Amino acid sequence: MTAAEPVDLTVADLHPALGDPALTSMNFLNEVSERYPAAVSLAAGRPYEEYFDLAAVHRHLDTFHRHLVDDLGHSPEQARRLLLQYGRTKGIVHHLIARNLAVDEGITVDPEDVVVTVGCQEAMFLVLRALRAGPTDVLLAVAPTYVGLTGAARLVDLPVWPVAGGSSGVDLADLAAQARRVRAAGLRPRACYLMPDFANPSGASIDTAHRRRLLDLAAEEDLLLLEDNPYGLFHSDDGPRPPTLKALDTRRRVVYLGSFAKTVLPGARVGYVVADQRVAGPGGRVGPLADQLAMIKSMVTVNTSPIAQAVIGGRLLEHGCSLVAGNTRERAAYTRNLRHLVAGLTRRFPAVPERPAAVRWTVPAGGFFVVVTVPFPVDDALLDRSARDYGVLWTPMAHFYDDTAPVRALRLSVSAVTPEQIDVGLDRLAELITDELARRAG
Ligand SMILES: Cc1ncc(COP(=O)(O)O)c(C=O)c1O
Repeated sequence: MTAAEPVDLTVADLHPALGDPALTSMNFLNEVSERYPAAVSLAAGRPYEEYFDLAAVHRHLDTFHRHLVDDLGHSPEQARRLLLQYGRTKGIVHHLIARNLAVDEGITVDPEDVVVTVGCQEAMFLVLRALRAGPTDVLLAVAPTYVGLTGAARLVDLPVWPVAGGSSGVDLADLAAQARRVRAAGLRPRACYLMPDFANPSGASIDTAHRRRLLDLAAEEDLLLLEDNPYGLFHSDDGPRPPTLKALDTRRRVVYLGSFAKTVLPGARVGYVVADQRVAGPGGRVGPLADQLAMIKSMVTVNTSPIAQAVIGGRLLEHGCSLVAGNTRERAAYTRNLRHLVAGLTRRFPAVPERPAAVRWTVPAGGFFVVVTVPFPVDDALLDRSARDYGVLWTPMAHFYDDTAPVRALRLSVSAVTPEQIDVGLDRLAELITDELARRAG
């Protein structure tokens, strides 16, 4: 559109979140990749596509339909209606999600405390909408933060206060300090959002002892913890996974956010939230927070597509409700890629005495993301130049901080590429970094 074109509205007259970097970030990154389709993308956090299988989608649907009839005793007519008609706001695969959480995570949940959502993104939105009761409410979030969370918070006018991640995944002293600072400013910290397993974008994880201390601190500071766990299954070693916060949560401090985008299919757009907190309503009636979230959901998406839920439900049933069992190939591919990427960085940026640690990177124990730190600011202009002149895409870490301070780091993702593409992408990235270092030195 040209400037001379007549306009009917201006962004300034719309919700203030529109035009905010938190909302434009994803579009910008998509636009760059569309402009340079030949560039190798180490930016996309999408899951590996090689195992996508259209025929399996039909089978999953059939499996779930049979489950309705054979296991739950629905008549064929009832089962048909359940799949094709408007349906229960909280969803129709809640019992299978509860079983999945028991099998894979050792979490015991009442299926009535689960709301099945349109992706984890909707779950985040519902929770933030519910928690934002008034203008003094504030959300704490471990920085760097997933931009989808920041954007959702903007849409419900909930300010996000960063908490340092540090080397432990969450700096508990800073969390306590920030909670107190919020209160000292006359505001109310409602919750702290974090990803204890292979966080997006930092790749950091929190160890079990620290998780326990975090839960104690949440109780002391009267905070809820919003645990977002889309990557937890993709650990690279064969040891036991640490328990989720929710598995350790004996005081109902944790609202657990789940996504099937990485463990089943992103195209189904199904996620969920476990919200077992007891809420006192009018007349002394007490029910789960899940019921309040469902009330909001009924005004946002009405219910999650039962067809999409059935696809997820069928896939769960086919693996005894275990997504650990259902993701062995995927986990192997991500582990292979993560190791390949880290080895490739080590080869291309050897630690030599004359260039001590000019370029550093994280070595996560799983997940999709590696953060590379460089000795110069990494911004959108550099990304554009990288795509145009070097043919490689990555994500500036600045997109995950809620301020405008320069950030000297970029995020690489291993999830949607082959080892060969990683090699090509790293060669190009190394060339860019070497040229940039030389340019700045000269
Ligand atoms: C940390 C985190 N939370 C939530 C989501 C969104 O999940 P969904 O696709 O289920 O909406 C993503 C997607 O990349 C993510 O990285």
